[in-house]
Amino acid sequence: MLSRPDVAVVGAGPVGLAIAWRCAARGLRVVLHDPAPGSGASHVAAGMLAPVAEAYFGEHELTGLLTDSAARWPAFAAELTEASGADIGYRTDGTLVVGLTADDLAEARRLWAYQRGLGLPVTPLRPTELRDREPALAPRVRGGAFAATDHQVDPRRLVPALRTAAERSGATVRPGVVRQLSDVDAAVTVVAAGCGAAALTGLPVRPVKGQVLRLRAPDGGAPGFRHVIRGYADGEPVYLVPRTSGEVVVGATVEERADTGVRAGAVLRLLRAAVDLLPELSEYDITETVAGLRPGTPDNAPILGPLPGRPGVLAATGHHRHGIVLTPVTADLIADLITTGVADPLLAPFTPGRFGPRPDTRPPGPAGPQQTTEDDSWN
Ligand code: GLY
Repeated sequence: MLSRPDVAVVGAGPVGLAIAWRCAARGLRVVLHDPAPGSGASHVAAGMLAPVAEAYFGEHELTGLLTDSAARWPAFAAELTEASGADIGYRTDGTLVVGLTADDLAEARRLWAYQRGLGLPVTPLRPTELRDREPALAPRVRGGAFAATDHQVDPRRLVPALRTAAERSGATVRPGVVRQLSDVDAAVTVVAAGCGAAALTGLPVRPVKGQVLRLRAPDGGAPGFRHVIRGYADGEPVYLVPRTSGEVVVGATVEERADTGVRAGAVLRLLRAAVDLLPELSEYDITETVAGLRPGTPDNAPILGPLPGRPGVLAATGHHRHGIVLTPVTADLIADLITTGVADPLLAPFTPGRFGPRPDTRPPGPAGPQQTTEDDSWN
């Protein structure tokens, strides 16, 4: 591309790629910058689309955005499948939320009451109903509920599909590292660089470590359960995401740390919780242990919109635990903002300016800002 692009997107995880796709499909000239597209948070993420099961106390504005984005997912998945020709592993079997012990169930019930109070579809099940839905659950499991609208997609299929769709729409991916935003020449720059956004913009994005395992069902078969399972097992939260390929993703720790080491203790706790809920998992192969960094923010909600004092720079970052589910709404609203100049009211609670007078405009020092390959998308 010889002429100056209309839009440069820094970070080619799902959020950055989807923004690029939406903008390019509207006729804008788009360049994406990322040294290793899809190698950040989304590479580790399980891909749960969970607006209900992840609706937590005190986060009702975030819950509204999650619900809006989840409602966009069926059309987004269909359009992306059509545009890329790829199977993205989108499954709509719903999620079971279960408690192993009476205490686990008491904790889960309190959250369900809160979620039902918001009008979210979570349906408590009798033990027989729970086992009818998922016979592989351990007999010890005391109870559960069904979140019919919480689904899943495979992030490792999603990223290449989004890249294909973006490139077919005319976007270009450049592998270079962006060390500072002044290196980028475009009418509009969108920072979708996950944890790397902090160094590029001064925004308060911090790494939140998550350790995850991948298992595989024996003999090339499919997992013996079909729902996403979210459980509490002796106080340990765990989720189990079955793929038709035979893979099961087991996650995840939530740690205020920035390293990506995998620790034996974390693996032990995740496996114990997983096998307590679904005993057949003890027969599965362990195929991968991995850790990644979610881009967290002070209020755990994403940062979306124009950076104060930085004309032409937009943030689309800080998606923390919700990058995959928030990909469609983020892409649509940021593309709308770029093409119309009008901010959708949905963006109002998530502006970069809500954290006070920033961003950091200091020039980079000797160890100055560097784009990482961390993208913004973890679910
Ligand atoms: N949303 C799942 C996670 O962050 O682990």
